[in-house]
Amino acid sequence: MSSVENVELVSGTVDDIPRLEPLWVSVHHQHQSAMRELAPYVTDETTWAERSALYETLLTKPGTILWIAQIDDRAVGYGLAHVMPVSETWIADTWVTGERIGEIESLAVHPEFRGQGIGSRLLQRLIDGLNEQGVEDHVIGALPGNVDAIRLYERHGYKKAWTYLMNRPK
Ligand SMILES: CC(C)(COP(=O)(O)OP(=O)(O)OC[C@H]1O[C@@H](n2cnc3c(N)ncnc32)[C@H](O)[C@@H]1OP(=O)(O)O)[C@@H](O)C(=O)NCCC(=O)NCCS
Repeated sequence: MSSVENVELVSGTVDDIPRLEPLWVSVHHQHQSAMRELAPYVTDETTWAERSALYETLLTKPGTILWIAQIDDRAVGYGLAHVMPVSETWIADTWVTGERIGEIESLAVHPEFRGQGIGSRLLQRLIDGLNEQGVEDHVIGALPGNVDAIRLYERHGYKKAWTYLMNRPK
């Protein structure tokens, strides 16, 4: 495991999207190993094409937050959150919330640097950034088999709220 003494958190923009590719692909690999029973999964190329297009949309929208954990110039982790009107979500017909919802869209730390607090620092920055915008209701999506990530979120106060089930072609 590498040392995290020199990790700094910097705010990112749309120009930083290419730096996130290997980190996002590591999330995709985590999803595959956490829930093998849901295979097949898309290729690394496809997952990044889809994800980077989403990030371009989100990072040109007001309220989106990107924090990158870096050592020297190497990105070793990132977190991205965005804000949406609750009326455009699955939340409005069930829960009383503010008019806007924050979504923690992504959280990733390079495998070599996990378990040393970087993910918690990134998550806390995203939570603080949403709260500073007056957005205090937040959601995060996670695969149910991704128990390590869910434990981290629960430690930060998140509670399980909604579960999708998937039926695959035989
Ligand atoms: C989920 C993820 C972002 C967490 O990042 P991380 O940097 O490992 O997170 P942290 O180090 O803050 O916390 C993880 C564990 O290390 C422990 N930890 C925290 N600070 C620590 C420190 N300074 N030294 C040692 N361990 C520490 C935490 O207590 C936690 O313990 P746990 O195993 O009981 O949960 C990372 O594991 C990851 O990228 N996973 C793959 C992608 C993924 O699943 N993303 C989420 C998609 S929903």
